Amino acid sequence: MKLADNKATLSFSNGSPSVDLPVYHGNVGPDVVDIRKLYAQTGMFTYDPGFLSTASCQSAITYIDGDKGELLYRGYPIEQLATNCDFMETCHLLLYGNLPDVAAKAAFTKRVSNHTMVNEQMQFFLRGFRRDAHPMAIMTGLVGALSAFYHDSTDINNPEHREIAAIRLIAKMPTLVAMAYKYSVGQPFMYPKNNLSYAGNFMHMMFATPCEEYVVNPVIERALDRIFVLHADHEQNASTSTVRLCGSSGTNPFAAIAAGVACLWGPAHGGANEACLNMLEDIQRMGGISKVGQFMEQVKDKNSSVKLMGFGHRVYKNYDPRAKLMQETCKEVLTALGLENDPLFKLAMALEKIALEDEYFVSRKLYPNVDFYSGIVQRAIGIPVSLFTAIFALARTVGWIAQLNEMIGDPEYKIGRPRQLFTGSVRREVQPISKR
Ligand code: SDX
Repeated sequence: MKLADNKATLSFSNGSPSVDLPVYHGNVGPDVVDIRKLYAQTGMFTYDPGFLSTASCQSAITYIDGDKGELLYRGYPIEQLATNCDFMETCHLLLYGNLPDVAAKAAFTKRVSNHTMVNEQMQFFLRGFRRDAHPMAIMTGLVGALSAFYHDSTDINNPEHREIAAIRLIAKMPTLVAMAYKYSVGQPFMYPKNNLSYAGNFMHMMFATPCEEYVVNPVIERALDRIFVLHADHEQNASTSTVRLCGSSGTNPFAAIAAGVACLWGPAHGGANEACLNMLEDIQRMGGISKVGQFMEQVKDKNSSVKLMGFGHRVYKNYDPRAKLMQETCKEVLTALGLENDPLFKLAMALEKIALEDEYFVSRKLYPNVDFYSGIVQRAIGIPVSLFTAIFALARTVGWIAQLNEMIGDPEYKIGRPRQLFTGSVRREVQPISKR
């Protein structure tokens, strides 16, 4: 970051001495006012619950321009990456800062393939869950449990440990998600097949059985790979900030990623794709497109807690570029599967059209986000709704790890420890119970 010529001066109407605060430029995007010395100089904190105006770190990984609807991974537009690259190239880019050449891609892919199996003991964790346990409950447990098996790569301050932990997590997430799925349907776990692509191997572990050969459908393989690319990273979102804060204590990378999985589960975040599909199915049951108007009235009613899931975003105040690409993938997959008349896809398109012309949404700059179409394409592929967020976590693991490693690799990083505005009881004395 570069010190700006101008500075911020904070003055107080009560005559307290004003304070000059440095301003820094990044390479693109908003400048920042450096308030690190504010408390020492004024005895005051800033107040920003939800962090609407707060930069928690400097980063060189992902840039979002919410007004333009722009998303760049290490400077490359998501539209170009989703069209010209696959998930292994995207992982290499996010982790190391550059797109690999043919040899580097092959070497990276082989390293990942060599770590796709999990320790045989991991399967016994599944038995503790009910068969109908939510996959995100299982994933939160399994990812944290990985740290029990890798004492050779849990020192987050050791760059080699961070590197091998990154490869292990990227490699093993598909295996764990597929195990959670197989457990829920009572089928045997399928071991990884390292001659398949990352997405193809995931499909094999999800849908193959020991009884017959499984052939990967290349259209679905490409669609899944694109879904992984689109979900790979997204600046300092809630789960990434959780991973950074968790990792700042020096805990091992598996524990920090498990914290990210837990945060992503929420319906306001990664759980929105599951919530969006359930919303579409509810509207379909109520009568489909003819009932959209009635549903929209509920959404706009401040007294109802009904939201149009898959719409709105803290940063995007324009169309989420991932939503456009996801809609394209939706059309490709539905056509390839002969489902172009899928009623939920038509319902989603109708909802989007109505919302984008409705003053409530237009005035609040609410547009479809990545979760609006992702559920429809995953459902078409045969993935159960409850597994959608686990697949989001699978894809986001590389972003979480890249962001965590960037923080730990910064010699200036400290343990994250926010303060508060205290509004509770001031000091009072405990009275004996006989006097309370
Ligand atoms: C992801 O941060 C990331 O980068 C996340 C993510 C990533 O890749 O990591 O992009 C992934 O989490 C995408 C978002 C998925 N969530 C949803 O689709 C759930 C529905 N969306 C909303 O819950 C909401 O839009 C949020 C949580 C996404 C953003 O919330 P904000 O920024 O806090 O905005 P807000 O709630 O203050 O909304 C502003 C106004 C409010 O109305 P008013 O009080 O001004 O009258 O817009 C309304 C909100 O009620 N609003 C919605 C709405 N989203 C916002 N009203 C109806 N339906 C919605 N979806």
